[in-house]
Amino acid sequence: MGGILVIGSYNRDTVLRLARFPAPGETLTALGMAEFHGGKGSNQAVAAARAGGRVALITAIGDDASGQAARALWAVEGIEAQAVQTARAPTGAATILLDAAGENQIIIIPGANAELALLPGFTPSADIAVALAQLETPQAVTAALFRALPGTRRILNVAPAAPILPELLATTDILVLNETEAAILAQREAEPAALALALAAETMREVIVTAGAAGAFWARPDGIVIDAAPPRVMVADTTGAGDAFLGAFAAFSAEGFAPEKILRLAVTAGALACTQQGAVPSLPHRAAIMALAGRI
Ligand code: RIB
Repeated sequence: MGGILVIGSYNRDTVLRLARFPAPGETLTALGMAEFHGGKGSNQAVAAARAGGRVALITAIGDDASGQAARALWAVEGIEAQAVQTARAPTGAATILLDAAGENQIIIIPGANAELALLPGFTPSADIAVALAQLETPQAVTAALFRALPGTRRILNVAPAAPILPELLATTDILVLNETEAAILAQREAEPAALALALAAETMREVIVTAGAAGAFWARPDGIVIDAAPPRVMVADTTGAGDAFLGAFAAFSAEGFAPEKILRLAVTAGALACTQQGAVPSLPHRAAIMALAGRI
């Protein structure tokens, strides 16, 4: 089984639990506050490792307590972090508003993530099967690393939604977005399968659109779509559900599973991640994914 290289962010997440989101100009009192590890890159690396992948992470952290806590997390999760960079800026941070229905609103402060650089002399290991990145770190760095990895499956999670640099799109094999991000990129509202098809035709790349309880839709530029529905779960917090999907998708892709099975396992991982509060605490382990997917 080949390894997985994740290129992306680490953030320290502060979660504010609310009865509902505030209106513009309104002041609300939070029901509670908690801190967690976060950042889409680190979350997806942890998710891939817990799903059974052999994972290396390229990210940037500050020379501070949050950065030290991040290194401790990666050691516990068995993630290779030798290529992690220490930047001059503080470790990235995110403030997450969580309402009573488990929906969230996220504001990120990029910090060190914005300083991730292509270090001279760094060569990705030869046995990488899957490379996975998001848009919380500089796109040009991801593009250069993807370019150095021909023959691997290069997956770009278009989150947060933003225009994709042409050189990054040119080196990407699969784009993964949630339905909100897909609507922003496609500049129109539509059903998730239609958005996946439209974006696949426009980009000439495979495109997966995730749609929460409605499942995920994987479209190819030739018009073929496969889909998978997740198991029903009690939703406590949707934060990290997309990261669980991406990490599991990368891990099961690296194992060479068939597309239908990869998608079913990935939506199951995403559903499991909704059942607990916080991104990292909710990322499921392989046994839980397999057990629940076997029942659907
Ligand atoms: O996908 C969830 C993540 O988005 C959070 O952990 C937050 O840090 C932001 O990166």
